[in-house]
Amino acid sequence: MANSAKLFLGFLVMSIFLLPKIAIGKSNGFTLKLIHRDSPESPLYQANLAQLQRTRKLILQSLARSTYQSHEHPSNSTQHFINVLRSKVDYQLGSIFMAQVGIGSFRASWPNSSSPISYFLHVDTGSSLIWTQCEECKARGNNCFYQKQPIFPDLRSSSYTKLPCNVHPLCYPRRCVKRFCSYHYEYEDGSSSEGYLASETFSFDSSTSIQKEIVQNMVFGCGFNQQNMKNYGDQGNIAGILGLGWGPRSLVKQLGSRAGGRFSYCLQRVDGNHQRNTFLRFGSDIPSRSGLQTTDLLQYGSEEAYFVNLVDISIAGSRLHIPSDHFIRRGSRGGTIFDSGTSYTIIIESAYNILEQALVNHFSKFVGLTRIRVPRFFSLCYKRSIGRGFSNLPNITFHIGDANLVAQPEVAFSVDKAQDGKEFFCLAMASHSLFQSNMDDPVTAIGAYQQINHRIIYDVTRKKLQFRPEDCTQNP
Ligand SMILES: *[C@@H]1O[C@H](CO)[C@@H](O)[C@H](O)[C@H]1NC(C)=O
Ligand SMILES: *[C@@H]1O[C@H](CO)[C@@H](O)[C@H](O)[C@H]1NC(C)=O
Ligand SMILES: *[C@@H]1O[C@H](CO)[C@@H](O)[C@H](O)[C@H]1NC(C)=O
Repeated sequence: MANSAKLFLGFLVMSIFLLPKIAIGKSNGFTLKLIHRDSPESPLYQANLAQLQRTRKLILQSLARSTYQSHEHPSNSTQHFINVLRSKVDYQLGSIFMAQVGIGSFRASWPNSSSPISYFLHVDTGSSLIWTQCEECKARGNNCFYQKQPIFPDLRSSSYTKLPCNVHPLCYPRRCVKRFCSYHYEYEDGSSSEGYLASETFSFDSSTSIQKEIVQNMVFGCGFNQQNMKNYGDQGNIAGILGLGWGPRSLVKQLGSRAGGRFSYCLQRVDGNHQRNTFLRFGSDIPSRSGLQTTDLLQYGSEEAYFVNLVDISIAGSRLHIPSDHFIRRGSRGGTIFDSGTSYTIIIESAYNILEQALVNHFSKFVGLTRIRVPRFFSLCYKRSIGRGFSNLPNITFHIGDANLVAQPEVAFSVDKAQDGKEFFCLAMASHSLFQSNMDDPVTAIGAYQQINHRIIYDVTRKKLQFRPEDCTQNP
């Protein structure tokens, strides 16, 4: 008994050190751990931040993200050389979820072993490239943004290989630098990232603390020149992006048969102090579920985000009959994305106003409610004379094609304490004009908070979104 326990432990220790050399035995499926920016495992975690402050920051994150999502995608002419993406937002470019990712193979002290360097990357369903900064950005004439972790020393990694020009299928748009394949992302404010496309070994934290998921020959962007990106990286904590979008370079596509074109998550409430794991599951690691509702995932041109056909919204089962053209995509503007990287749902102003007015009417029948203004917060908030948590609040349904995503009161509203200790609740959604002037046809984003306690499956190959209610604390 004791002996076998020792043996087992020995094996585990060996496994940890030898892992990067082993192409992991599991032939099917793939699971990686997602870290919410406000969970204790996150490098951005601020332990003594009050809940109200946390929510405030997430509102800003949602607005920033939905603002940059709504800019035009590149015209055909520039696309061959440069991908014009997103305007810059001072606040946060990134997603609310990140992954801790080991990149590369570096010599370690253990005989014959090698270990990667660990980075935090934003997990982004709105873009497809996986990228981080590489050492060449420190060269004269090039630029890096500040990061705490060492900038990836590409040339010292034994598993790093630059893609030769025009050979690899992921080498597009065939814009080569020194005979090697490259990418060039340019943002509307003049910031940009340029780099080589290379292949490398990536390892991910998985559902067990011991086993890592290893992917060899992953194609990623090795950024050697990041111009005007000083505000990127969340004070040096984030080193890049793990893209999950439609494009062929995204993680779900590069995992090939291990993902089978599908990924899934089941999000839980993050209340700042409890550490609960959330996982992004691919292929056969996705639990099978009956009673899933299904709707189409829409792909528009070179847009990398997942769009859906939002047709209407209901409050407590009554439809608002919002004209569906509010949510429709026109050319390269408008439309509705389904986005785990946006914290709170952000709705185009014309439709948001209908929703807010209908809720004002709904709550006008209740006694003991006073509408209040909370500075730099959601716009529809009420103080209750007696605190009741989420009870007596309505559910809110998003009608997406023929499917219905029902946000129960716990995820449609937020409940907080005012300075006088009294409880107040707010609709946990906003319009783009919450803190700024209106914009033309921005994108509506169904955000992560409203997806909590649903099993969500993106079937990228079949272009379907599936979901059903689930207690995500039971089966994350
Ligand atoms: C862009 O390309 C598509 C198809 O490749 C074409 O139909 C469209 O006219 C092009 N647009 C412009 C502005 O060149
Ligand atoms: C290390 O690698 C060498 C050559 O590949 C091999 O002969 C040796 O047995 C290995 N040592 C260990 C501890 O695996
Ligand atoms: C939403 O609320 C309405 C009215 O209270 C109720 O009839 C309906 O069952 C609720 N839907 C869900 C899925 O909970």
